[in-house]
Amino acid sequence: MTVSTGAPRPARMIVAITGATGAVYGVRLLERLRALGNVETHLLVSSAGWLTLRHELGLERSDLQALADQYHSVREVGANIASGSFATTGMVIAPCSMKTLASVAHGLSDNLIARAADVTLKERRRLVMMVRETPFNLAHLRNMTAVTEMGGIVYPPLPAFYNRPESLDAMVDDTVGRVLDLFGLAPQVSTSWSGLGKDAEA
Ligand SMILES: Cc1cc2nc3c(=O)[nH]c(=O)nc-3n(C[C@H](O)[C@H](O)[C@H](O)COP(=O)(O)O)c2cc1C
Repeated sequence: MTVSTGAPRPARMIVAITGATGAVYGVRLLERLRALGNVETHLLVSSAGWLTLRHELGLERSDLQALADQYHSVREVGANIASGSFATTGMVIAPCSMKTLASVAHGLSDNLIARAADVTLKERRRLVMMVRETPFNLAHLRNMTAVTEMGGIVYPPLPAFYNRPESLDAMVDDTVGRVLDLFGLAPQVSTSWSGLGKDAEA
């Protein structure tokens, strides 16, 4: 019998990279989590995700796998993260394709990414889906509504200009920082808006 010591568990995050454009978001998230030093990371990459990682960033499997504590193939449906009994802090799909969005919205669990997301939702843990497509068709919009109704957070990686980012890198960092904030991880990393001041009325 396992006796609980009451000690807080270290954070354990699942990061999935799918084949939407914006692989950099998943990579930056892994780098940020690694920099925190006390977060166990589980990485999943779809076949199309490997294509975009190579095409957009020139990254190969070994580069990515080195950024995570555990790497799982999407076919490994018997992995620890496929079970709700394996406690996690939550999961981010960064970026999330419309195909993976549809799979999660319909509870298909047809690969380990969709299964881990399904488990995250059923255990009422935090699931953030950085969906990326433009423009949206009705299926995309309905699927986003469905995952929101199930408790997931739809977080399209849309850049904010009010912090006057000086580079694409800064924009990516700000977006990833906001996602980490949603998990209470490193809230100091995202730029906190202090307002325009009392004179700034529209
Ligand atoms: C370079 C590239 C960019 C793509 N960008 C997007 C995108 O932004 N959004 C999207 O939903 N699909 C995009 N796709 C198509 C997906 O990769 C494709 O639908 C794939 O089946 C998704 O599978 P996955 O969810 O298992 O990764 C892109 C494909 C390629 C090759």
